[in-house]
Amino acid sequence: MIKLDQQYWQERYTNNSIGWDLGKVSTPLKNYIDQLTDKDISILIPGAGNAYEAEYLFNSGFKNITILDIASSPIKYAKEKIALPCCNFVQQDFFDHNGKYDLILEQTFFCALEPRFRESYIKKTHQLLKDNGRLVGVLFNFENKLNGPPFGGIITEYIKLFESHFKIIIMESCYNSVKERQDKEIFIKLMKKI
Ligand SMILES: C[S@@+](CC[C@H](N)C(=O)[O-])C[C@H]1O[C@@H](n2cnc3c(N)ncnc32)[C@H](O)[C@@H]1O
Repeated sequence: MIKLDQQYWQERYTNNSIGWDLGKVSTPLKNYIDQLTDKDISILIPGAGNAYEAEYLFNSGFKNITILDIASSPIKYAKEKIALPCCNFVQQDFFDHNGKYDLILEQTFFCALEPRFRESYIKKTHQLLKDNGRLVGVLFNFENKLNGPPFGGIITEYIKLFESHFKIIIMESCYNSVKERQDKEIFIKLMKKI
């Protein structure tokens, strides 16, 4: 399998091969953000790409947002486009990141990682969350047959993986996906187990 490293992802941006990029905040994340009342919470968006969710958070009044990506292009783009005092822009491998957050937002980052790193992702998100912190977002909902990203999965598999470190509040078929992802996403709201 091709190595999914910094160079791979950077080249995807350089070649404009970014089919995942919605060009706007995705509806499941937007609707979830709209329900949040405490605007002071610390939020991490790993594998943030062009950071539409961060932009939406900022415009909604959130003040403590960390945008993290291994590739330089989206971080540069987000810095220029958003350039917000509320945002930390971090170009780094997620697995090297340190910090403590109230909320981690997941969107097409988990599926970008080789499945052999899934347990590490779960341990790392758990480590990066404060007590009672939440991991919220969407995972793809299709059998994992591909040799490259996006890597999918199904609910039973995700439950098995996540329940060791998270209390599952919601893990169900997503009803408000963008049109092109309808019936292909699972909405998750997970609480860190302590
Ligand atoms: C499929 S894209 C999704 C981008 C964004 N979440 C979106 O929905 O538009 C996956 C992103 O994860 C980033 N990425 C991949 N592996 C990473 C890692 N180990 N640490 C941090 N970012 C990573 C890639 O550079 C890319 O921007």
